[in-house]
Amino acid sequence: MIIEPVSFGLVGVGGYAAIYLRVLRSLENEGLAEISAVVIRSPEKYPAEVEYFKSKSVTIYGSFDEMIEAERSRIEVVALPTAIHQHKEMTVKALRSGFNVVVEKPPAVTIQDLDEMIEAERISNRFCAVGFQLQSKAVVRGIKEAICEGKIGDVKYVLAKGKWKRLDSYYERNAWAGKFMCEGKYVLDGTVSNPLAHYLMSSLFFASRERMKAAYPLRVRAELYRGHRIEGEDTSCLEVEVEGGARVFFFATLCSPFQSDPSQRIIGTKGVIDWTFGNDAYIRYADGSVEVIREDGRDERVELFRNVIRYLRGLDENISCPLVMTRPFVLALNGAYESARQIKQIPDEFIIRRKEGDSISTIIVGIDEIINRAFEERRLFSDLGVEWAYKTEHFSLENYKYFSLRL
Ligand SMILES: NC(=O)c1ccc[n+]([C@@H]2O[C@H](COP(=O)([O-])OP(=O)(O)OC[C@H]3O[C@@H](n4cnc5c(N)ncnc54)[C@H](OP(=O)(O)O)[C@@H]3O)[C@@H](O)[C@H]2O)c1
Repeated sequence: MIIEPVSFGLVGVGGYAAIYLRVLRSLENEGLAEISAVVIRSPEKYPAEVEYFKSKSVTIYGSFDEMIEAERSRIEVVALPTAIHQHKEMTVKALRSGFNVVVEKPPAVTIQDLDEMIEAERISNRFCAVGFQLQSKAVVRGIKEAICEGKIGDVKYVLAKGKWKRLDSYYERNAWAGKFMCEGKYVLDGTVSNPLAHYLMSSLFFASRERMKAAYPLRVRAELYRGHRIEGEDTSCLEVEVEGGARVFFFATLCSPFQSDPSQRIIGTKGVIDWTFGNDAYIRYADGSVEVIREDGRDERVELFRNVIRYLRGLDENISCPLVMTRPFVLALNGAYESARQIKQIPDEFIIRRKEGDSISTIIVGIDEIINRAFEERRLFSDLGVEWAYKTEHFSLENYKYFSLRL
């Protein structure tokens, strides 16, 4: 089908913005998108990209504000793969200036910021899509559809586990990585808000039997830890009770000795769904039969932008991850910090730090087994009696509207 290419204004070309650039170029090759303008605030760092855009006669701006001002009514979508604590201000400004927006995940880390963004979107007559790319993945959408059709009955539990390894270089890549706050704003960078956030978002999505909806959290019990020498958390466990009666368990670390693909399990009254990222998902019914939901091998990052383009051109009915759908996620994130009250440093005796390439890895001794056990038994680390774990209380999110925790 031939459509008019959607014009994008891209902010940044390094870090995760380099992925946006790759995705948009591949959609340009398909004739679906056009990068009409780009913001490169430090051109000396990106000579190849500057040369590329000059060769294509794409306007390069030195700042976001300049682009917003100059490109009004020319660009259709502004893409914001920028620092977490800049998301709200940039999204609100872009919406108020008449642009649609794709903002990276997490859209915001406080519920007051997210609500401001939702309100700006509502009155703008434009849309904001969020870069939770799993929501654009066929297998994730297939799992959700199976749940909505009632194939596994009522959802009782949704489980997620993610065990990744991040070196010190990961935290040295910019000013905000691993921070609780940056430039006076909350960042809450960590497993819950950032690298493994996709799986908390998808868990809440699976916990609701309504299409296009993630389940609202009612109360949260959470423990937050750090193994690395950082300000934020790099290891977490959450129990989230949601509307409709399901319980979500999320277990994550960036201090694993190995990098493994995250897994999810959804336990219903009539069957269980198991899925590991990159693979098919399996529905196991009570009578022993098994149904497969296929992984289609498509790049979900490209699909996210394809969906935005198709939505704008009236070919898709919905945005796969609209801003408002992420409200339960941000509430659960805030609830996790309110319940945890602290980020506990794991004592040195349980940490191994060793040189890897030009950097240093941080491993929590036994963390893989701890997370596997927590996942199977649906218990938080302190419930398992892990030596370094601490007990926390449930935090109720009833009428919760403002995050203001200081550690
Ligand atoms: N969906 C995913 O799987 C995934 C994976 C990784 C990261 N992310 C998300 O992507 C976002 C960006 O992360 P990152 O680590 O790449 O961040 P970053 O290093 O701070 O920024 C990425 C790029 O944006 C540019 N930039 C940032 N703020 C800008 C501004 N105000 N004006 C102009 N350019 C600006 C940077 O330019 P300079 O180089 O000049 O600083 C850099 O090129 C975060 O929300 C993160 O959570 C998502």
